[in-house]
Amino acid sequence: MARSTAGVITLNVNGEKHTLPVDHRTTLLDALRERLDLTGTKKGCDQGQCGACTVLLDGRRSLSCLHLAVAAEGQEITTIEGVAEGDRLHPVQEAFLDLDGYQCGYCTPGQICSAIAVIEEHAAGWPSAATADVRPEAGPPPLTAEEIRERMSGNLCRCGAYVSIVRAVARAAAETGARTTNEGAA
Ligand code: FES
Ligand code: FES
Repeated sequence: MARSTAGVITLNVNGEKHTLPVDHRTTLLDALRERLDLTGTKKGCDQGQCGACTVLLDGRRSLSCLHLAVAAEGQEITTIEGVAEGDRLHPVQEAFLDLDGYQCGYCTPGQICSAIAVIEEHAAGWPSAATADVRPEAGPPPLTAEEIRERMSGNLCRCGAYVSIVRAVARAAAETGARTTNEGAA
């Protein structure tokens, strides 16, 4: 007897619970876009290479095109639609707007979700491949442009808005008290 590949799951997205029948092979990206009409999360490559589909799962970055919807049950899923607080934009959103951190905007939801997590990862002391001193006692490194570029390297921008994206991330990080440098903010 053939086994069913469908089931009913409950996803907690942006603080709201959604119960929906899905094929178990449905990606989180397709569930968000096609089933919940949350089209802010973009599909770029659909194979884990571009970062356009980045969302936050329990506050950590995740590529929703590589994550099955069933595997996201029980996690807090935050998409670009959920990062603002009511009418108040998230500081990362404001920085992208003020500093033109985009051109066509297709990669922007993923860039913003990624940047939100980058700032938290950095504040928590997570090193990156660009961090010179990775000893725990060294604390978070200054969030230089090099650090930001490395930490955001999973998010591609076909318009090449990288210079402004780095500036926007540096400004938003500085607003949260991160140690930046002139290089990062320049
Ligand atoms: S659409 Fe997921 S990484 Fe490109
Ligand atoms: S702003 Fe167009 S792809 Fe990044």
